[in-house]
Amino acid sequence: MSLLLTNLGELVTNDGGAAGGDPAGPGAFASVTGAALVIEAGRVAWTGPARQAPAADRRIDCAGRAVLPGFVDSHAHLVFAGERSAEFAARMAGTPYRAGGIATTVAATRAASDEQLRANLRGLCRELLAQGTTTFECKSGYGLTVADERRSVALAAEVTPEVTFLGAHVVPPEFADDREGYLDLVRGPMLAACAPAARWVDVFCERGAFGPDEARAVLTAGRAAGLIPRVHANQLGAGPGVRLAVELGAASADHCTYLTDDDVAALAGGGTVATLLPGVEFSTRHPYPDARRLLDAGATVALATDCNPGSCFTSSMPLAVALAVREMRMTTREAVWAATAGGALALRRGDVGHLRPGARADLMLLDAPSHVYLAYRPGVPLVQAVWRDGELAAGRPPAL
Ligand code: NIG
Ligand code: FE
Repeated sequence: MSLLLTNLGELVTNDGGAAGGDPAGPGAFASVTGAALVIEAGRVAWTGPARQAPAADRRIDCAGRAVLPGFVDSHAHLVFAGERSAEFAARMAGTPYRAGGIATTVAATRAASDEQLRANLRGLCRELLAQGTTTFECKSGYGLTVADERRSVALAAEVTPEVTFLGAHVVPPEFADDREGYLDLVRGPMLAACAPAARWVDVFCERGAFGPDEARAVLTAGRAAGLIPRVHANQLGAGPGVRLAVELGAASADHCTYLTDDDVAALAGGGTVATLLPGVEFSTRHPYPDARRLLDAGATVALATDCNPGSCFTSSMPLAVALAVREMRMTTREAVWAATAGGALALRRGDVGHLRPGARADLMLLDAPSHVYLAYRPGVPLVQAVWRDGELAAGRPPAL
């Protein structure tokens, strides 16, 4: 059963010149006006000018609206219980953000049943999808015991293949006097319990969490267990996280809020994607990362939400795009590319983040004529319909 989406005001394909080295994967930002797209068997079968569109089993006239690749949110912490709105309110009244707040969510998560965690997780997944996100990464990291981390990665694996083991989020309170003991647990039995259900290993490398040697030890152990590193780096201050990520060939260094010139040069010269999470700066009142500086140096930039109950409780990629454009000196094209193709590169995925024929048919229809509206009309729910694997997964297209 093929489906033709036609009369598109804009079709963002991201199939411009080389971007990630994979000729079948995302390319540079590219878009066409007056376009059409055919979906068949869960894949993009054809794109081109509407007047040349082939016949299809079903046809939707999109009346000048825009179609974009589904967002790829490469950084989210969705397995947790409880909430921290009081911490947010206190922050807005002047209390600074501290990594220590994570312990509050760890306690709530440990106390929750599997069903409570699953229900919260699934609700967040629905939120993501309704806002155009068709691929997302999901971390553990609020369990911090072998059993609680194991169930966190198992729950995450129910909703995404992009599962990250984050046992090294913070040292939990019961190990406050025994960091070494906790690191042995993370690198040993906890990693062994979690690696079979995970693809990635992450460490919060930051003052108040884990230092560079600790982070290196966890990431190399994860790599030996078959996981690929990604790093929470340079979120709260300058530090060694970004350079460690590049040194270890991590898929991405995430946050990148406080960077030295050496950090920028390392990201530009290495294969590690710089993943920026502007919702965090919005919600913590830290300065926004300087995306322009990274882009001008030649680094690959991704945008993601970091959805979590502490530093940033938004699941909205449209918000990340709007903040990146308004606050981080990204063009609308750069921001949309970073939220789609950039996220795909951060997850080393060639099948998403673009709409080249052969790509997974993960896409969104905006109730707007172009991608620019995501930043031009901030806060407005513009995502009208979302297809995932070629199936309508959220919203409603016109005349259906
Ligand atoms: O990415 N930085 C570490 N982890 C999360 C925050 C988690 C929390 O505050 O609960 C983050 O910002
Ligand atoms: Fe995070």
